[in-house]
Amino acid sequence: MFITFEGIDGSGKTTQINKLSERLTNLGYNVLTLREPGGNVISEKIRETLLSAGNDITPCAELLLFVASRAQLVEKVIRPALLQGKLVICDRYIDSSVAYQGYGRGIPIEDILICNKIATRNLVPKITFFLDLPPIIASVRAINRSAENLDRIEQEGEIFFDKARQGYIQISKNEPERFIMLNGSENPDLIHKNIWNYISKII
Ligand code: TYD
Repeated sequence: MFITFEGIDGSGKTTQINKLSERLTNLGYNVLTLREPGGNVISEKIRETLLSAGNDITPCAELLLFVASRAQLVEKVIRPALLQGKLVICDRYIDSSVAYQGYGRGIPIEDILICNKIATRNLVPKITFFLDLPPIIASVRAINRSAENLDRIEQEGEIFFDKARQGYIQISKNEPERFIMLNGSENPDLIHKNIWNYISKII
């Protein structure tokens, strides 16, 4: 089964992914956790290009690099793991491109979806958890985490992250069955309990 997590930078995805993966592993599930962009040698190289502060990348090139990284990850890692019966939990996936490159940068959503369809050959997560948090709170967390070394995308201002957040909110309206919106400002244990309610029904 393929599960993904989404949210703007600093929304608490890592904490929730760790809690979920630990719980599933303790129950005997074979869990593989991944992050995007990354998760294999080529995608980590693309990640370096995408996130290095100071790289001047056009919105279109940015989209295509994220999508190239995803294509490599899906074919080399995610599909083989799913075929082996593993539970794959990925930190970000197509919805990040829709929220950041679509709503954030203004690239038409249809174009984003076409590229991603090619890259993933239609691999869609069974369920996606979106941790919603106002950018002003999330950015404080992201800044605390990264100290002074904010990456190229973290350096974007609040307006950009607010657009991305609105994108996520729109996806949750369009796909309420798959895309579960959770309040990221709640206590992490409570958020996990909520997530577990969904997961325990589908595994
Ligand atoms: P990362 O350090 O992994 O951020 P986080 O811990 O918040 O997930 O960096 C990934 C950055 O790339 C993050 O700012 C979101 C952005 N991103 C996109 O803009 N589009 C995408 O398709 C993906 C996967 C990530």
